[in-house]
Amino acid sequence: MRSWKVLALAFFATATIIPMTVAEDGKAIKKAMKQAMKGGLNKKVISGEGSDDDKKQLLALFTDMAKEMPPKGDAASWKEKAGALVQASQDMVAGKEGAAGNLKKASNCKACHEVHKGK
Ligand code: HEC
Repeated sequence: MRSWKVLALAFFATATIIPMTVAEDGKAIKKAMKQAMKGGLNKKVISGEGSDDDKKQLLALFTDMAKEMPPKGDAASWKEKAGALVQASQDMVAGKEGAAGNLKKASNCKACHEVHKGK
């Protein structure tokens, strides 16, 4: 009787954990949009008020985002646009001159949404 319960519990645990991790994948773009773009982290870093941790977090968000495919548009264009955000935030972390300007340029909401955001 006891082993049944253990087995049932183990099954329940795997059955709930697996869909959760799958659902987490495929959400990197939305996460980056919510936290970095809409959430203001991006703006904070561009304005020069971001801490080193802010910059690293921004880089992590954009890096994950760039690995995912957007709902619309072709891969080459996405690679270029998302890649520019990764590069610029990487340069921010490294403290390179002109990085904030590049980050601002790469953060053009409308230019990217027109090509890559679904309706
Ligand atoms: C490099 C491209 C790119 C840039 C730049 C960009 N976005 Fe997005 N954004 C996307 C894509 C792609 C989606 C659609 C994601 C999806 O539906 O999976 C999106 C979706 C969103 C969403 C909806 C998120 C959700 O949960 O459905 C918001 C809000 C958003 N963007 C805000 C912004 C703002 C504000 C800016 C500018 C400061 C911006 N974005 C710049 C690519 C970009």
